[in-house]
Order: sequence, then C-alpha cells, then structure tokens
Amino acid sequence: EPLHPVWISGAARLAGVIGYPVTHSRSPRLHGFWLARHRIDGAYLPLAIRPGDLAETLPALPRMGFRGVNLTLPHKELVLPLCDEVEPVARAIGAVNTLVFGEDHRIIGTNTDAWGFGAALAAGAPARDAAAPALVLGAGGAARAVVYALAEAGAGRILIANRTAERAAALIRDLAPHCPATVLEAVDWAARSDLLAGCGTLVNTTSLGLHGQPPLEIDLARADDRLVVSDIVYDPLETPVLKAARARGLVAVDGLGMLLHQAVPGFERWFGVRPVVDAALRRHVAADL
Ligand code: ATR
Repeated sequence: EPLHPVWISGAARLAGVIGYPVTHSRSPRLHGFWLARHRIDGAYLPLAIRPGDLAETLPALPRMGFRGVNLTLPHKELVLPLCDEVEPVARAIGAVNTLVFGEDHRIIGTNTDAWGFGAALAAGAPARDAAAPALVLGAGGAARAVVYALAEAGAGRILIANRTAERAAALIRDLAPHCPATVLEAVDWAARSDLLAGCGTLVNTTSLGLHGQPPLEIDLARADDRLVVSDIVYDPLETPVLKAARARGLVAVDGLGMLLHQAVPGFERWFGVRPVVDAALRRHVAADL
C-alpha cells in the first residue's frame, strides 16, 4: 500500500508555495488535504526560491504549467513589482500572498489574508458587533490585512496601538484611502488596556504570545462582556490573551482559522473547487499545535 494516495497524472494541475525557507510552511499540508478530499488530479509543491532568484524564476512557473502559487516570507512584498496586475486589496495591504497565472502567462497578484481573517472571525464569533469600535495591536503586514477586513466588515472606528508609533501612523496613511467609511486612529501602546472599554473586538497581530516570545500583557478587566478577542498567533493555539479572554467568559478566536481560510480563494481559483474549512482540516493542519 502506498504511503499516500497519488492522484498526479500528466494532466495534473500544479500550484505551490514560494518561500525561503519554505520547510516550515503548513500550506502544502493544507492544500494537500483538500486535493485528496476532492480527488483532484493536482499537486501543491514547496518551492524554496531565494529572494534574489525570484525575478528570474517566477516568470518560468506559468510557462511550466503552474496555475498559480502562494508566497510567504520574505517574498510577499518583493513580488509586487513582478506582477502584471495587482488586485486592489493587495495594493492596499502592500503585500501579495497569492498569485494566479492567467492568459499569456500573465501574473496576477492578490492578497487573501484580509478575506481569510474576516471569514475566520465570522465563523468563530458569529454574534460579534462588527460596527462597534475595534482595537488592533500591532502595525506590521498582518495588521494591515486585519484592519482592512475589520473596516470591510463595517467597523465605524478602529484604534491601532503599536509599540513603534510611527508604524501605526504609516499604516493609517496607507489604508485610510481604502477604508473611507471607517475612522482609523493611532493610539498609545501603553494605554491599550484602558482603551478596551467600549470596544467590540480586540485583535492581537503582534508576535507577542508566539512560542518563544513574551506573552501579550493586556488587562481585560475593563472590557465589555460582549468583547470578542482574536489572536492571529496560532502557535500555540491557546495564547495567553485567549486564555485570559475565555477565563473572563469572552468569545475567543484563535489564529488557525485565518491560516486556513486565507487558502480558500487560491485553491478555488487554481483547482476549480471551493474547499471548506472544517474540524477535520483543523486537526490535520494543526496536529502538532
Ligand atoms: P507581521 O508581518 O507578521 O505583522 P512584523 O511586520 O514583523 O510582522 O510585525 C510585528 C509586530 O509585532 C509589530 O507591530 C511589532 O511592533 P513594532 O512595530 O514596534 O516592532 C510587534 N512586536 C513585536 N515584538 C514586540 C514586543 N516585544 N512588544 C510590542 N510589540 C511587539
């Protein structure tokens, strides 16, 4: 009996993930699960491409028959000038995590992180008050996707607290034109616990709480009872802030959902089947977490 079923034929559809290193990416496991579940004749490959080799290797992929690829560190920003077309959401976030190869080997860049975060939040906290103010901690690439998603879901006001204040200001400058119905406001990192009063959503996009990093320190005492607490860190699944939220009886949404949901649009565009995020997929991708 083979170790794993092989569906690959000469007609197989090809996709993959470009990273450097790429060995830690969970995307092959994630897409491989859906390929097997849907009995799709296709393959999703890890592609370890050095940043300096991206400009030379990327145009070869559509010419080799690839349908598209995902991009992970450090390629998400580097790939922007290599795209023939960048969809507005990726332009707004300033990073591309998904490429779709079109007619004449055209390279179309998009970003599914915002959509993935929004879908994970909607699934994990269906009763969330999306119009209430939100507090976002952090101002890196992940924060940009989260702010975009919260604004799109109807947030009237989003507070952004970052250790380095200039980065929060830069995020607001870049995203404000794309979020005309939402007030984006930079707030003091040190005031984060006090600012929670009146918020409907708290999102940690910093690396605090990640395995090997210090925990995120925030006092949930002043939080509204309806506050939804979301963390994009998924290693460990139960971060200190999520544990504190659950202990207070608040709805807590872990970071695995964003990782799984962000993969849905790419898989659908490459392989023609809209896959579903469910408990079996969670178990498969997060078996070691
Ligand atoms: P990503 O693209 O995943 O968002 P990033 O751009 O490296 O990654 O951003 C990491 C975020 O975690 C930043 O907001 C960073 O704050 P700074 O902009 O001040 O660096 C935040 N972060 C990391 N370590 C932190 C710490 N010890 N205390 C507070 N914030 C921290």
